[in-house]
Amino acid sequence: MTHLHLNPTVVVVADDEGYLAYDVGTGRLWHLNPSAALVLELVEEGCDLDQIHMALAPILGADGWPSCRTWIESSVRDGLFAGEPSPTTGEVGAPDRLRALASELRGRDRVLGAYICQRRATELAPDDPQIWYELGELAHIVGRRVVARNAYERYFDHHPDDAEVEHLLVSLRDETPPARVPDRCIRQLYSRFSSFYEENMRDELGYRAPELLRDAIAAAAGNRRGLAVLDLGCGTGLSGELLRPRAGRMVGVDLSPEMIERAERRGLYDALHEAEIGSFLASPSCGSFDLVVACDALIYFGDLGPVLRLARQRLEPEGLVAFTVERSDVGPFRLTDSGRFAHHRDHLFDAADAAGLVVESADEAILRQEYGSPVPGLVVVCRAGPDKSS
Ligand SMILES: C[S@@+](CC[C@H](N)C(=O)[O-])C[C@H]1O[C@@H](n2cnc3c(N)ncnc32)[C@H](O)[C@@H]1O
Repeated sequence: MTHLHLNPTVVVVADDEGYLAYDVGTGRLWHLNPSAALVLELVEEGCDLDQIHMALAPILGADGWPSCRTWIESSVRDGLFAGEPSPTTGEVGAPDRLRALASELRGRDRVLGAYICQRRATELAPDDPQIWYELGELAHIVGRRVVARNAYERYFDHHPDDAEVEHLLVSLRDETPPARVPDRCIRQLYSRFSSFYEENMRDELGYRAPELLRDAIAAAAGNRRGLAVLDLGCGTGLSGELLRPRAGRMVGVDLSPEMIERAERRGLYDALHEAEIGSFLASPSCGSFDLVVACDALIYFGDLGPVLRLARQRLEPEGLVAFTVERSDVGPFRLTDSGRFAHHRDHLFDAADAAGLVVESADEAILRQEYGSPVPGLVVVCRAGPDKSS
């Protein structure tokens, strides 16, 4: 074996320090360090084993070559390199094929392989904005932040009206976050998401914030029934369904018409309003409630002070405000690369206190999964304290 060839079913892309290589035939992955990356470049230039040895000798020294040679031999056995050129060269090379592979691999949670295929597709078809969008998603999933930012920027150049990508770029560029996720972004996100929201959250992501909140409310509210309940960011009614047994009257509020429409079909709510949470709470027609709930909705708000203050003003005496947020170890809160906010535990207590609420419980829990990792959260119940509105 003096001449080597890159196995034609292997896709290679540059990475932070070296290359990533993925065999679409066997699913095998290689992280190539700078020396291995150099070997690969020399192989691709058509160098034989002697030429590779000569090129690497000054870098590796006399002692380094035997282990490099052993690595090359094992890479032939593992299928990175082949001794003979294959007649199927180019089989996986077309951008559409790579993109289809990326989509299929992502569906099977083989996200690094998907990322490699998608990244190679953008190298081959750099003028297709949609390919860049898909790379942005995959780069975010595998934690390649700079690649994700660059990919979303390339897409955004062609789609400057995309409010979701505009918002993601705020985080990826480390710009100052807005007070809350822009309304236009929420509407676009849930217009796209509404048709598979429940299936995705429940069946694929193990979403259990509604159950966690129901149980936390039960611990604080005991046997109280017939409550006036306000469900902020009610979505399709997943949280409302579990609140209904306690409710005499239940009102839902949400920005997304598609989510509201699904909530309506559930037939749980006495009234549903397509409105922004803060604007609704501030409107004179809002009314007052025994229980104000925001299940997985304040993840779209930065500083919780203003919204908790408004919620406090809508509480009956002995009223409760209950909500979940994603937990951050960094205070007081931060916009994450997912486009959602995460809050430090201390911020909940500070914001609740300033709003005239007393935190009854703030339990840590896993709210759901995301890309195979748990999403840590806080399940919070507050009681009306001294009114600080004046
Ligand atoms: C993750 S979903 C949660 C839905 C529901 N509470 C549940 O537990 O399934 C978040 C919901 O909050 C809504 N939302 C986000 N920000 C909002 C805002 N500022 N005003 C009104 N609704 C908002 C979204 O439209 C979406 O339906």
